[in-house]
Amino acid sequence: MAVTPSEQIRVDIAGAPYDVRIAPGLIDRLGKEVRPFVRKDSLPIVTDVHVAAAWRPRVDAALGAAGITGHWLVLPAGESTKSWAFLAQVADFLIAHDIERRDRVLALGGGVIGDLTGFAASMVKRGCGFIQVPTTLLAQVDSSVGGKTAINTAAGKNLVGAFHQPALVLADPATLDTLPLREVRAGYAEVIKYGLIDDADFFDWCEVHGPALIAGDPQARVSAIARSVAAKARIVAADEKELTGVRALLNLGHTFGHALEAETGFSDRLLHGEGVALGMMLAARYSVRRGLMHGQDAQRLVAHLAAVGLPSSLGALNLGCTGQRLADHMLHDKKMDAGTLPFLLLRGIGQTFLAKDVDLADVAAFLDAELAR
Ligand code: NAD
Ligand code: GLY
Repeated sequence: MAVTPSEQIRVDIAGAPYDVRIAPGLIDRLGKEVRPFVRKDSLPIVTDVHVAAAWRPRVDAALGAAGITGHWLVLPAGESTKSWAFLAQVADFLIAHDIERRDRVLALGGGVIGDLTGFAASMVKRGCGFIQVPTTLLAQVDSSVGGKTAINTAAGKNLVGAFHQPALVLADPATLDTLPLREVRAGYAEVIKYGLIDDADFFDWCEVHGPALIAGDPQARVSAIARSVAAKARIVAADEKELTGVRALLNLGHTFGHALEAETGFSDRLLHGEGVALGMMLAARYSVRRGLMHGQDAQRLVAHLAAVGLPSSLGALNLGCTGQRLADHMLHDKKMDAGTLPFLLLRGIGQTFLAKDVDLADVAAFLDAELAR
């Protein structure tokens, strides 16, 4: 029987380097993996109800084998958990656990649990440690790496947060076996993103292997997670706090995507990754409109999104709004800089760049045309 290889990638952040380990079966070795990072025999764990239902017994057994007892905080699942109220709950839980600065809390779950727990860890005792054990494809390829942590507020998504790097990331692709297919597809949008940013060969790879990855092929999953994490590690090491424009490339599709998420109320109507898929499609088609990119390249992206079952046009959303309304959502974007909104556009597949000359009125007109397609 072929053994699926494992991978380890160093995220080389000055003063806070850490490893991302990727291997099927890691979850059953969790105790052994975290033991060098945990000073006490009890470990606070934050998760959500879906992940706890699927993985808590295995995690408890793996920790127990290394003499560690998990102390669990199990939160409701979903984007609304990234809130002030649950941030307070996680902080109180860590304080009740007597966590010290050099201790770690384990975030077991998707991007919601990782972002929330990481943010709480950045604040409690003015900063304590955390370990990410991402259990969605999106979290394994993106959110668990790079140290962006946040909650949402009434005014929008991720508006309050901090940069706080984890001490270790353990990504077990086998945990994706219990993830709903729609969530797997949504996470895959972030995989395609790395190909579009600066790695045309990886986009070619996605076209060939994407369907197998989504269907559960372990080798394809390890390869895609490792390649995505390596890309993210490289970008984050070059620009940890998104100051030079390099890390901003990771936001490809997010400005359009966030507008769509806002219009659909950050609800199950549109998952974050689905918003990113549509956002990348719109960034590509807008780049064609601006004469920056060949229409064939945008068509290739649209075809690949459709081939893997991701949304590839606005029509299916039945938004019933104007392009101007979507553009208005963009005014709250965190990337807004002195009244202008930088946009990630493309000159081709693997050639994303930051454009600072985009006129939101033109974007609104473009979106009107897209909504009418
Ligand atoms: P999520 O955390 O809500 O997880 C999606 C769903 O899958 C939830 O219902 C969850 O309970 C369930 N789930 C998770 N793992 C499971 C498993 N193994 N088996 C069964 N069910 C499982 O969503 P997500 O897509 O992982 O993350 C989205 C969030 O990540 C958003 O809030 C977004 O803003 C954030 N994000 C952050 C970064 C970053 O750099 N920090 C990057 C991208 C996205
Ligand atoms: N997901 C975008 C970033 O980490 O910068």
